[in-house]
Amino acid sequence: MAIFDNSSSNWRSKNAQFWSGISEFYQKKGIDSWDRLVPHQITNNPEFAHTCAKLIAHYMLDCEQKGYSGRFTIIEPGAGLGKFAFHFIKELTSLLSISSTQSDLFRYVITDTSDQSIQFWTNHPQLKPYFESGTLVASRLYVDETLTVQFDLESLPRQDKFILLANYCFDSLYQSPFQYHNHAFVPCSIEHKPPSLTNQDGSVHYKPIPSAPRPFADCSFYDRILDEHYALGAERTLMPDGPIALIHWLDALNDHPLLIVASDKGFTNFTFDQYASNFNIIQTGTYASSVNFFALGRYIELALDGSKFFGPADQVQFGTHLFLTHASIHEYANLNLEGHSTISTVGTYAKSTTNLLTAEISLRDPYDFFNYLSSQRFAPFSLAVLYDHLETALQNCDILDSIDVDRVLNELLGNYYFTPHETSVVELACIGNLALMAKKFSFAKSLLDLFLKFHGTSYQYHRLMGNYFFLQSEFASAAHHFTESLSINPECESSKTFLQHCEALVEPAVI
Ligand SMILES: C[S@@+](CC[C@H](N)C(=O)[O-])C[C@H]1O[C@@H](n2cnc3c(N)ncnc32)[C@H](O)[C@@H]1O
Repeated sequence: MAIFDNSSSNWRSKNAQFWSGISEFYQKKGIDSWDRLVPHQITNNPEFAHTCAKLIAHYMLDCEQKGYSGRFTIIEPGAGLGKFAFHFIKELTSLLSISSTQSDLFRYVITDTSDQSIQFWTNHPQLKPYFESGTLVASRLYVDETLTVQFDLESLPRQDKFILLANYCFDSLYQSPFQYHNHAFVPCSIEHKPPSLTNQDGSVHYKPIPSAPRPFADCSFYDRILDEHYALGAERTLMPDGPIALIHWLDALNDHPLLIVASDKGFTNFTFDQYASNFNIIQTGTYASSVNFFALGRYIELALDGSKFFGPADQVQFGTHLFLTHASIHEYANLNLEGHSTISTVGTYAKSTTNLLTAEISLRDPYDFFNYLSSQRFAPFSLAVLYDHLETALQNCDILDSIDVDRVLNELLGNYYFTPHETSVVELACIGNLALMAKKFSFAKSLLDLFLKFHGTSYQYHRLMGNYFFLQSEFASAAHHFTESLSINPECESSKTFLQHCEALVEPAVI
C-alpha cells in the first residue's frame, strides 16, 4: 500500500525528476562514482563498520534474551562500492563468534540501484566467500519516481527479523521541499537549471506552490508532522518521502519490529542549524540533501507505533540514528546501552576522519602515527594519506623495532578492499612500502602476488618488486623491475634513483 500518490500531486511528480537525476548519476557511473568524486571514506572503513556491527550484535543479543531464536536479514540500500558491507560482515562475524553459538545468525542483502555496482560485487574476489556461503546476497533496490520500491522479494526470507542499514543513502532519495507561506506550510517546486559553461554544477531554486491541496500524503500523520516544524522554529524543511516510502514498504513485509540504523548528514531538531535557503541541498559529486531525521522519527513514532534514538543534535554534518518500529528501544537494554556509548561519538569520529582527509592532522612523532592508525582500526586509506610524513619520520628512528609490525601489517592487509581505482592501488602499495621498510620480505612477497592478481603489472608493482629485490641485495633483478617501472611511468622518481644505485652496484655486463 503506497502512501504517496504522485498522480494526485503534480508538484511531487515534477520534483521527482530532480531526484531521478541523482539516481541516474549513480546508475550511469556505477562504482566510478567513488573514484575521487563522491566522498565515502567516513562510512566505508573498518572503525565505522565495527561501530555498526557492535550495535547490531547488541540488538541480536536483546532479541535472543527476549526468546527469539530465528535469523536476521540485514538490508543495505545504496551500498555503493560494497566496501562497508565487506568490513561490516567481517566485524559482525567476529563479534558473533564471541557472543553467539549460532554460526549462521544473519544474512546480508547488499543492494543498489546501479546494475554495474551489483555486477562489481558479484565478481569481487574478496566478497566471493560470503556469496558462496550464503551470508551475502546481492539484489537491486530502487525507490523509483513514484516512490514505489522496486525489489526482487525472493532474496528476503519473510520469517526473519529485518534490519535496515542505510549509510549516506537517505540523502539521495526523494525529499519534498516545504516552505512556511502565509501561515501554512506549502510544497515548493524544484527548479533545476542544468550545468552550462558559466554555471558548471547547475543551480537549484525553489518556488512555493500555495495552491497545492492538502493532505500532502495518504498518511494522516504526514501533514501533522509537517506542521510540528513550525513549533520548532523551522520555516522551511525537506520531508523525507523516499526514506519514509522505503521504511513503510520494508516494515509491512512481516510482523516483526524493523530496526533501522541510518547514518547521514541531517537534522534531529532545529536548535543547532536551520535549513538554508537552498534547503541544504549540496553538490558532492552529485546532489545530496540533509536528511530530516526529526520528521522520519515522528513518522516512525506516529504511523508505525515505534521509537527513535537520535545521536547528538549538534552532529548535523554526520550522525548515526536508530529507529525501531512497533516497539520501544528502551525495552532493548543492550541496544540502548550500546547506542548511548557509541552513537554519541560517531560524529566526532567522522570529524577526525575528515581532518585526516583534508590533511589537517599533524602527528608529532611516529608513535603518534601508529596510535592514530590503531584508532582508525588500521584503515589502509589512513596509511596512504599519512604515508609521506611517516616515511620521512621512520628514516630517523628505530620505532619499527619496538612495535608489533606483523600485527600492524596483517591488520592493514586484512582491511584492504580492492577497487580498480588508483586510490586502491596506492593503498596496497603503501602497505607494501611499510612491509619493505620493516624488512618483512615474506609478507611483502605475498602482498606482491596479491598486487599482481588485483592490479596487474602497473609501474607501482614493478617499483615495489624493484625495492623487494634491492633490499635483499639482488641488484640485477631490482634493476630489471625499476627499468620496467620507468617504461610504464618515466616520471617515477624513486625508480630512477634506485636504478642509478643498481647501476652503480652491479657490473654493467650483468645489467
Ligand atoms: C551517497 S551514495 C552512498 C553510497 C554508500 N552507502 C556510502 O556510504 O558511500 C548514495 C547511494 O544511493 C543509491 N541510490 C541513489 N538513488 C537511489 C534510489 N532512488 N533508490 C535506491 N538507491 C539509490 C546510489 O546508487 C548510491 O549508491
